[in-house]
Amino acid sequence: MQSRPLCLTLCALASLSLAACKARQPGRVESATIRWTKHHVTIGGNSQANSLKPTPSTIEAGKLVFGYYCVVCHGRDGQNTGVPFAAKMSPPIPSLTSADVQLYSDGQLKWIIEHGIAPSGMPASSGILSDDNMWHIVVYLRNLPPAGTLGDPRAYTGEEYQDPSPPLATN
Ligand code: HEC
Repeated sequence: MQSRPLCLTLCALASLSLAACKARQPGRVESATIRWTKHHVTIGGNSQANSLKPTPSTIEAGKLVFGYYCVVCHGRDGQNTGVPFAAKMSPPIPSLTSADVQLYSDGQLKWIIEHGIAPSGMPASSGILSDDNMWHIVVYLRNLPPAGTLGDPRAYTGEEYQDPSPPLATN
């Protein structure tokens, strides 16, 4: 799949879920309960370990795959930089450096990427990215750069969009 159509589809998805989510934001106790349930019950993959070690080249590879389309919603730095609708989604798009996200195990992060989080706007990458791609992203998520240092996603800057297409999943 080309990254541009994929990107546009995801933007459309994001605006659709924005439109569909007029419900009130959950309260504090409710959020804590949802968070606990996700960390301990619904998100799988806890026992899976990442065989990739963080090195400059695995981090760079993770950043590249993250650039295929995660950037449209999470920003190039994983901290929503330059994403106009991040706070308006319900639930809002979290900063991927937040303690809440970093407390997931590597296996859980890979599971989130693979399966997405229904019914929020977080899409499943199963069938789009290979296992290897997803594990590289997990390395990148553990080594995100300081907020704002990479600039805005090209999709929003009007620059010619030239990110490479994701390789089709092979497993
Ligand atoms: C269409 C927008 C969109 C795209 C594209 C997207 N995400 Fe998300 N992501 C979200 C939203 C919305 C949430 C919040 C979900 C929730 O809390 O239920 C989220 C949450 C997450 C979380 C934290 C989950 C949690 O429980 O706190 C991680 C990790 C994540 N995304 C990684 C990624 C990665 C890696 C990619 C690319 C493979 C990606 N996302 C692509 C919208 C998106």
